Amino acid sequence: MLVQEIIKDIKTPFYLYDFDAIKERFLSIKNSLNGVSSNIFYAVKANSNLSLLKFLKELDSGFDCVSVNEIKRALLIGAKPYKIIFSGVAKSKEDLEFALQEKILYINIENQAELDLLEECAKNLNTVANISIRVNPNVDAKTHPYISTGLKENKFGVSLDVARKMYLKAHKSEYLNPIACHFHIGSNLLDLSPIIQSAKIIKDFVTSLNSAGLNIRFFDIGGGIGVSYLKDEIEPNIKDFFNQIKAMAKDYTICTEPGRYIVANAGYLVTKVLYEKINENKRFVIVDAAMSELIRPSLYNAKHEIICFKDDLANSSKADVVGGVCESGDFLAKDVVLPSLNSQDYLIVKSAGAYGYVMSSNYNSRTKIAEYAIINGKIKLINKAEDFMQMIKGEVECL
Ligand code: LLP
Repeated sequence: MLVQEIIKDIKTPFYLYDFDAIKERFLSIKNSLNGVSSNIFYAVKANSNLSLLKFLKELDSGFDCVSVNEIKRALLIGAKPYKIIFSGVAKSKEDLEFALQEKILYINIENQAELDLLEECAKNLNTVANISIRVNPNVDAKTHPYISTGLKENKFGVSLDVARKMYLKAHKSEYLNPIACHFHIGSNLLDLSPIIQSAKIIKDFVTSLNSAGLNIRFFDIGGGIGVSYLKDEIEPNIKDFFNQIKAMAKDYTICTEPGRYIVANAGYLVTKVLYEKINENKRFVIVDAAMSELIRPSLYNAKHEIICFKDDLANSSKADVVGGVCESGDFLAKDVVLPSLNSQDYLIVKSAGAYGYVMSSNYNSRTKIAEYAIINGKIKLINKAEDFMQMIKGEVECL
């Protein structure tokens, strides 16, 4: 069936995810890891929809969570605690206690004080905390500065020297069990060589720790695999990439935390044209979605391809596709070539499956939009649109 047919009765704007495409992406990573012990921990932050998490769980995915609520989401859809890991730079005492009580696989520690706090929590709960330390290899991921995390000036992780001291200290503690080592140098890398370079550094580091008597078994390379947002962007060959990682880390269980790679290109933001407008020779296509629904273009100047169902190229010209939010920075695309459009024509923003809905907001009191999935050729509502009363509930109760 044509996409137009499938979506024609649905109120715009909304997100649409193709679950078959998600499965294909997940399996391509899984197959690339054939023959070795491995864990794919899907990065829940990329898209935390429960139906999506459940779908991935059924494919045997694990989950990389960065908040207690993400862990709760994973547990809610039936993920086993040993398929969950917990990362994040600012975990509170309550967060750490929760993770310990739920007995997840390991907690990624990001600084010395956090390690001490975790030890205290484990002692109080009379348990042993399985840990990993996020090591910052000081390698430039060569990606957008806002999503680059592996340089020494970034807030994430600790240097190799500090990590060594932390590991040795943890090794001596009866409440801490260092079982993993983790790094994540950035997101949306089309060239994965910085991850390979980091993996070499971390592999040598882990070898030296294990020679000192530790028993680190999980080699966690983080996420970061990039995707093509535009036609001329070439995606990395992940089979080659994982072959190199496999050759390097064959003695370990390889853990990977992909988010974007699995969901980005399987998702679409579907919006409708409200008006066309020309100001001083500049053409604007004004649509019913905005930065409140997809903030990536405004925040990172990210480019998303936009398509429409008209192919009348004779009347095409460049336009900015903008929303109704009161900010000049509210745009979905700039200078894209589009045919002449009428009110109610569809525009589809591609590659919106990762960091789309999850980064949406109520700015301008806009309510969160619905999410749909195409599963086995059929469309299914997987998250209802928020209504006005839901949005103001907490405030009304305090009036
Ligand atoms: N693991 C850790 C520790 C992370 O911090 C991240 C992403 C991932 C895994 C997943 O990375 P991925 O495979 O998706 O690249 N909002 C930004 C992306 C922020 C990524 C944050 N960390 C965007 O829209 O581009």
